[in-house]
Amino acid sequence: MGKLFVNEHPLVQHKLSLLRDEKTGSKEFRELVEELATLMAYEATRDLTLEETTVNTPVSTAVTKVLSGKKLGIVPILRAGLGMVDGMMNLIPAAKVGHIGLYRDPETLKPVDYYCKLPPDVKDRDIIIVDPMLATGGSAVEAIRIIKDSGCKNIKLVCLIAAPEGIKAVRDAYDDVDIFLAAVDSRLNDHGYIVPGLGDAGDRLFGTK
Ligand code: PRP
Ligand code: URA
Repeated sequence: MGKLFVNEHPLVQHKLSLLRDEKTGSKEFRELVEELATLMAYEATRDLTLEETTVNTPVSTAVTKVLSGKKLGIVPILRAGLGMVDGMMNLIPAAKVGHIGLYRDPETLKPVDYYCKLPPDVKDRDIIIVDPMLATGGSAVEAIRIIKDSGCKNIKLVCLIAAPEGIKAVRDAYDDVDIFLAAVDSRLNDHGYIVPGLGDAGDRLFGTK
């Protein structure tokens, strides 16, 4: 069973409060999403494997450790996931970035695919999907399906705010995926928005409303 990790770090919780505030404008919203993504990346990479190496310090030789496991890929779900890419890349700059374009049909709330470009060697990489919002879970489940169909075995999902319905949808479809969150809110409203949530993440990031 994949893990479910909710990041209670004080910096995460403080920044999340600022992000939720309706008075926070797009510039600050983008900065906060990037900062939160960096803090989430720290936890989502905690299980990366290491191997021993030696380096010559100015004083002596140090037996020390470097990353040794599979290469990483970051896949934002467009649009709002784009806001988390730079924050993740701050810690894992060698990762390749793929893109999956999905939007929710406002009537059915089902994801509609419109774009997909993954690294050509995606099956040899561990993939971290990023999207600030996990609402019904439809978009995340569809993104996981696309990446698994490309041959990738190890997928993590990093979101900021989730509804219980979204967590359950991902768990029911793919119980091997680790899920990293900053908060689990109470529910979805009749329009599929997370309550209390932060509104429409894509619109707030890009100023489209
Ligand atoms: C938002 C969000 C997720 C999705 C979550 O995207 O960024 O991708 O909704 O909802 P779900 O869990 O019910 O699928 P949206 O469809 O609004 O597209 P946008 O990012 O382009 O605005
Ligand atoms: N997408 C968003 O951007 N916000 C929500 O609350 C739900 C889906």
